[in-house]
This record gives sequence, structure tokens and C-alpha cells, in this order.
Amino acid sequence: MKIDVFTLFPQMIQHYTDESIIKRAQDAELVSIKAHNIRDFARDKHRVTDEPPYGGGGGMILKPAPIFEGVESVTAEANAPIILLTPQGRVFNQQIAQELAQYNHLVFLCGRYEGVDERVRQHLVTDEISIGDYVLTGGELGALIVIDAVTRLIPGALGAEGAAETDSHATGLLEGPHYTRPETFRGHTVPDVLKSGHNANIERWRREQSLRRTWQRRPEMLLTAELSEEDRRFLAVLAREQVERRE
Ligand code: ADE
Repeated sequence: MKIDVFTLFPQMIQHYTDESIIKRAQDAELVSIKAHNIRDFARDKHRVTDEPPYGGGGGMILKPAPIFEGVESVTAEANAPIILLTPQGRVFNQQIAQELAQYNHLVFLCGRYEGVDERVRQHLVTDEISIGDYVLTGGELGALIVIDAVTRLIPGALGAEGAAETDSHATGLLEGPHYTRPETFRGHTVPDVLKSGHNANIERWRREQSLRRTWQRRPEMLLTAELSEEDRRFLAVLAREQVERRE
């Protein structure tokens, strides 16, 4: 996958993507991430990228020309989504990460200041994504979050084969707890079933922990998760437990 990011602060993108799993994925040529400075596409002497808004009001607006020219310099792939990071976009989640992971090429545009000229939105951008209902100083962190979530879905990007399939949210449920050595830490022990070597029991225990955690923390996720008869029976047990605690 090829990823191009347009920003006034390319080093913000560079620093994060040059470490850990995303760096390894780039070294393995699974993904190639390039951060471009919008300023490099401003043609005037002072390389101006922003101006005050028509009609007055506070703040500065990113000018359309450098953004159009920058993005047009890389979009060889006709169907590559051109994604603006903005608090007005659709709210990012694992499903959107999976959708974006299907493309060969993604283009991200990071807004700054009061935003971008509306013509960028209307005539260049094909998708708008928000990373949550709060306002940041710019789109760079948003772009990094989306790039991180998408990159780890590319087959081979995570070391352990299949690890992404069992993640919280990937299954429609939250993941249950994990333990590693030592067996007893400050008097707290690892559940016996995990040391039993009985794979079917371990799998069932993990599934039930996952269901229990989702029930406790994000019950609305259970409405859309794929559940077996056995899962539903276990959820009925949790519901009964809750009623009994209230009595
Ligand atoms: N830029 C500023 N705030 C943002 C948000 N919440 N999501 C994406 N981009 C942003």
C-alpha cells in the first residue's frame, strides 16, 4: 500500500511512522508512507499556504492551490481515497480501518488553523474522517491514528499471524484479559484454566471473558456482534447474575 500525507508539519508524520511496527512494515515493503509539505507546492515567493477568510472573522484558512497541486502530484491511482482529517468527518472506527485497508493507495490531508478552503472539500477530497468528538490543533494526529490502524491490518504487518483478527473490536467484542510470567505477582495469581493445557477449555474461557468484558464496558456492542447459541446462554447467565446482585 502507498500512503501520501499532505501537511504543514511532515516531521510529525515522519517521526511516528519511522518506529516500531510501522517502520518494520515499510522495511518489508508492505507499505510506503510519504509525508509531503504543503508549503513545497506554494508557488509564490513567500510560499504562502494560508490566508484570512473572505467575509472576515478570526483564524486563517489553508489556500486551495497548494493543496490541489500537491495531491495531484501523487494521485496516479484514480480510485485512491483523498481523506481530509476534520472534526466534521465520519467518526473513525475499526470498520472504517478495514474498509481503507482494502485500497492500494491512500491520500491524507491534514488541516490546520481554522480549516481548509471549502473548494478543497467539494472538489478534491473524497472522504472526511474525524477521530472523535473533540478539536485538535491539526489533522496530523488523526492521520497517524488512521494510518496506524490501517497498517496493522495489512497481511504480514503484525509479527504473529492472525493477531489482528482477535483484537478488541475486530471480532465485534472487546478482548478479554491476558497474562504472562510470573505465575504469582505480588500475591495475584494467573487463572488455573490458562495453565491447564486444555485448549477447548481455554478457548471457551477466553470467549466468556471477552463477552463479560463487553457486557460490562460496551454492552451496545453485543447488539451487533456475531454470537453463537453458547454465547447467548452465557450472556443470559450474566444477566441473571446482575439481577441477583440487585435483589
Ligand atoms: N482536526 C482537528 N480535530 C480533529 C478531529 N477530532 N479529528 C480529525 N481531525 C481533526
